[in-house]
Amino acid sequence: MNKGLPIAPAEGKLGILLVGLGAVSTTTIAGTMAVRKGLAKPIGSLTQMGTIRLGKRTENRTPAIGEFVPLAGLNDIVFGGWDIFEDNCYDAARTAGVLEPALLDQIKDELAAVTPMPAVFDRQYVKRLDGPNVKKGKNKKDLAEQVIEDIRRFKAQHKLDRLVLVWAGSTEVFMTESPVHETLAAFEKGLEDSDPAIPSSMIYAYAAIREGLPYANAAPNLSADIPALVELAAKTGSPVVGKDLKTGQTLIKTIIAPGLKARLLGVNGWYSTNILGNRDGEVLDDPESFKTKEESKKSVLDYILQPNLYPDLYSALHHVVRINYYPPRGDNKEGWDNIDLFGWLGYPMQLKINFLCRDSILAAPIVLDVALFLDLAKRVGFSGIQEWLSFYFKSPMHAPEVYPEHDVFIQLMKLKNTLRYIRGEELITHLGREYYD
Ligand SMILES: NC(=O)c1ccc[n+]([C@@H]2O[C@H](COP(=O)([O-])OP(=O)(O)OC[C@H]3O[C@@H](n4cnc5c(N)ncnc54)[C@H](O)[C@@H]3O)[C@@H](O)[C@H]2O)c1
Repeated sequence: MNKGLPIAPAEGKLGILLVGLGAVSTTTIAGTMAVRKGLAKPIGSLTQMGTIRLGKRTENRTPAIGEFVPLAGLNDIVFGGWDIFEDNCYDAARTAGVLEPALLDQIKDELAAVTPMPAVFDRQYVKRLDGPNVKKGKNKKDLAEQVIEDIRRFKAQHKLDRLVLVWAGSTEVFMTESPVHETLAAFEKGLEDSDPAIPSSMIYAYAAIREGLPYANAAPNLSADIPALVELAAKTGSPVVGKDLKTGQTLIKTIIAPGLKARLLGVNGWYSTNILGNRDGEVLDDPESFKTKEESKKSVLDYILQPNLYPDLYSALHHVVRINYYPPRGDNKEGWDNIDLFGWLGYPMQLKINFLCRDSILAAPIVLDVALFLDLAKRVGFSGIQEWLSFYFKSPMHAPEVYPEHDVFIQLMKLKNTLRYIRGEELITHLGREYYD
């Protein structure tokens, strides 16, 4: 039996560097600060509130996940990051308007001390934004080297032992894989030549992975999800994960769709629409950025419902996803889903879901979990794509020979079994014959 893997201890300080100090990042940072001061609870975070069952149901062993595997403590986290705007995180959190000023004021000094480093940014990739805090470089290679310098400086300045880097910047324009993404050699030449197929997010991803740092992509743009950077990750021992945090409407979709399929109920229409008024909504108002998001949001149903295996139930499915920028709602997104389904003998039914959610409130615990689990992965010696963290993503990165798993319940089982495997505990299959023998 597997005796568990050697795990380097979570000693010392962990730096979490976030690219883009907008709504998601500031809600994560301020939230972590509030939790460690005892001002609020880390609701929605598996690392902080989750448990894991071990062994047989008769054993009654269900430790907290944070006790079962060694994770960095919240008090050992130091936050930093980059943005094209110069606002510190207190001001940025006020602009984002997600958390109440009364809460932000209680952590004001600590939050204001997190200030953005100048960003790698090019309007070609995010058309609706522009800002003053941007690096200059002779080519993209030079910009990547500047990011590496930033990482090293931040590590030394805060006396950090380990670091994780998360892209939480705006959604970049839609892009598919091109020859410059195929191999590391082609990619590094592309950096020298400032190839247009290398957007800003890939420059940060390259810098992080070259330094051997774990890298996560909270947005749907390709970023590290290209063969060249997966090749680099294998060389430098860097765990990578993405893409696009699974919050809001897609989270609900991946909860409902497996249930309908489990009962073999047919679906011939799924219409999803949202109104969103934050800066993310403004960026997504550009059709090229929206296309990146749309692809990410639409793929989940095909993989969950498997129309190829169940043509009578799902081959006629019309799946439509819309996001409308509507400033009055700010970060408080409202989503409507209309599901046209059918049952026994083809009789039609409808299911309506109206989710008044808060985007960044759902995203922040995920960013924290992903950063802490990636740090664990690194200490366990995992590198490359971390499919066991697909629980958190709309478009999970996966090996080329398998299709991505989108069913949130299978994803959670995979995550927990990976933790059991790391610690040498029996994997749970839910067979349970032994209780009746
Ligand atoms: N909130 C959610 O539930 C959720 C879910 C899934 C994905 N996402 C994605 O996460 C990302 C962040 O979302 P948000 O709501 O915080 O958006 P936001 O607009 O509030 O923040 C993004 C920040 O990134 C900065 N930025 C853009 N390009 C940059 C660059 N090259 N370098 C440094 N900074 C850069 C912007 O200036 C902005 O401050 C978006 O791509 C969004 O689509 C969010």
